[in-house]
Amino acid sequence: MFDHHTAEFAADPWGVYRDLRERCPVAHSTAYEDGFWVLSRYADIRRCALDTETFSSEGGDLLIPAENPDRLLPVQADPPLATAYRKVIMPLFTASAVRAMRPDIERYTDETIDEFIERGECDLVADLALAVPGKVTMRLVGWPETDWPDVVLPIRDFSTYPADAPERLAAAEQLAGIRQRARDNIRQRATEPDTDVASMLVRGTVPHGTGSRALTEDEAVDIMMMVLFGGVDTTVAAIGNMLLYLETDPRLRARLGAEPELIPGAVDELLRYEAPVQGFARFVRADTEIGERVVATGDKVFLAWAAANRDPAVFDEPDTVRPERSPNPHLAFGIGAHRCIGATLAKVELEVVLRKALARLGEYTVRHTAVRPTPSCGTTFGRQRIPARFVPGPRSRATDNVR
Ligand code: HEM
Repeated sequence: MFDHHTAEFAADPWGVYRDLRERCPVAHSTAYEDGFWVLSRYADIRRCALDTETFSSEGGDLLIPAENPDRLLPVQADPPLATAYRKVIMPLFTASAVRAMRPDIERYTDETIDEFIERGECDLVADLALAVPGKVTMRLVGWPETDWPDVVLPIRDFSTYPADAPERLAAAEQLAGIRQRARDNIRQRATEPDTDVASMLVRGTVPHGTGSRALTEDEAVDIMMMVLFGGVDTTVAAIGNMLLYLETDPRLRARLGAEPELIPGAVDELLRYEAPVQGFARFVRADTEIGERVVATGDKVFLAWAAANRDPAVFDEPDTVRPERSPNPHLAFGIGAHRCIGATLAKVELEVVLRKALARLGEYTVRHTAVRPTPSCGTTFGRQRIPARFVPGPRSRATDNVR
């Protein structure tokens, strides 16, 4: 029976999906809640994600089992409201906004690498992958950069530990504090407007009747929490997965060093190959046939983006990494009304980290026996530890003046 929170699944999710796709592409599992459907074919997943009337994102947590009692927006709403929420925060994520962020992303990456470059060893997750998205997230919401561990570590723990783990219970308590901080920030901006996200949310409107209305305070908090949540464990996992894979494929790593123009394609391909977000659920609004099965009103359906990305009906040699793959219509960022709003930003973060890692950590080697997957890979597929060694190098100019 499909259970994406087990150690067996974490050991080889792609094998589990291959088996499902071949034997039972519309499978039913009773592992959690009242049971749920798992889709593993690209075409089925794409179709459901595009049909938001039948396959709704509204009605609860999109994780299986439902874990987060707090709502996140726009991800837990349907169009047209979801689209209106997206519009409010879109200015943060446009191509030009991301371009403007790039120098800071480069600086975050350099100063993070500076912390360990002279040692000749590091943990690619704890020492590198966590800090860069952490600082980017702080910059997005306009909170002090140095606060990143207070926000990012609870989000990471909440997203990667199983529901009953003590780490997760502790993280849930800290998250309540972060939610309160988001609320205080929004309340403050209602009287002292600025240019940050909280101010953007205070000014934000959504259609209402024949006109429009302001966001409620709860809606604003739910959107701010999504901005905080969206780019953390996803991007952390993606950085770790990418650096780990490249260490096992030295020819590709050397090629990317020699031909940096291949890096954007390689980033997309590595997101396809090991999708950080395994899948999200939808709530069925009308009895509908998928393949040879009928899913009923009220059922929950797991759209396994990670499985779609290995479907041989769409990707030639899906288990092989090919940076030149084109087109590469992978679903690591989802598809349709909820396609990841941070996709451009995430790809720039990954590109910058990859370029700097290739330039500064060179032919790093990983101690594979000490690599650990995240405690549960069912939601975010990533590694908790990737210890690595490399030839020590000098600190960058980014931090010379603060030594
Ligand atoms: C490699 C990194 C990332 C991956 C793999 C990823 C993946 C995803 C996926 C699969 C969805 C679709 C949800 C659905 O259809 O139900 C999504 C939505 C979203 N992501 Fe990302 N994401 C990443 C980075 C980011 C970043 C950096 C941000 C910035 C804050 C972000 C913010 C969001 C938001 C706000 C949504 C909700 C969009 C909506 O509901 O309209 N993500 N992401």
